[in-house]
Amino acid sequence: MIILDGNKVSNEIKDEIAEHVKVMISKGEKVPHLAAILVGSDGASMTYVNAKVKACQRIGFNSTLIELPEYISEKELLDKINDLNTNQDIDGFIVQLPLPKQIDEQKVLMSINPDKDVDGFHPSNVGKMTLDLPTFLPATPYGIMELLERYQVETSGKNVVVLGRSHIVGRPISILMSQKRKAGDATVTVVHSRSKNLSEITKKADIIVAAIGISEFLTGDMVKDDVVIVDVGITRVPDATKSNGYRLAGDVEFESVSKKASYITPVPGGVGPMTIAMLLKNTLLARERQRVF
Ligand code: GUN
Repeated sequence: MIILDGNKVSNEIKDEIAEHVKVMISKGEKVPHLAAILVGSDGASMTYVNAKVKACQRIGFNSTLIELPEYISEKELLDKINDLNTNQDIDGFIVQLPLPKQIDEQKVLMSINPDKDVDGFHPSNVGKMTLDLPTFLPATPYGIMELLERYQVETSGKNVVVLGRSHIVGRPISILMSQKRKAGDATVTVVHSRSKNLSEITKKADIIVAAIGISEFLTGDMVKDDVVIVDVGITRVPDATKSNGYRLAGDVEFESVSKKASYITPVPGGVGPMTIAMLLKNTLLARERQRVF
């Protein structure tokens, strides 16, 4: 069993980007600038956004964190987004999801300038991705593709089962892996909360991408020998033996599934760090595009 080490690969990618930044600086060019909007004080979202900002600092990007109160109105948030859309100094930005109930998420995503949409969530970028046109790929699916590619996991002609149909992970990874591209050319099945005979489907999978948001959902009896496992889930599970009172669990029961797997991502240290690395890569792309046009 081989661990798909997201920490290691994401560090390699960040080093590659940092080298690129050094060249930009030596040529007197502007370095990429990422902004992140965080609404409210959800613990997990704060952790993710802070990790994104810290990663920018490590590789020499400029970064701006915009923290807005939980009770902000939709109009105020849209105004803030409009500021970023027109601010020439900002190359790309993200609005961390989920958003509070009073705010229409789709309206917010549609208000982001597609050229600065480094999360790749704007409908025009989703459309381009679906048509295999050049665009920003959403960071988590992009990170999964990159991880599979760098470990040379064969995907062509393989049965891939994606657990979950979210707009952020399940849906886009199912599209990307079925396309004619690196880490693609697979036969993809998407299963979700209404799917029947789930175990029968997962047992036929050569590769499983678990993004269903239920901790330790996929167990060893649901997979075949030598399966490749990509675990996107990350949930805090109460654990009295830990000083902080919890441990982090994925959507996969690592103990039982890893015994059968040929490759598996750990949680933490698998997909999570890859998401951050690919967001940085998209921000670099956004800067390069602005320079060209
Ligand atoms: N919430 C969970 N994952 C993501 C992500 O990749 N981008 C944003 N903006 N919010 C998220």
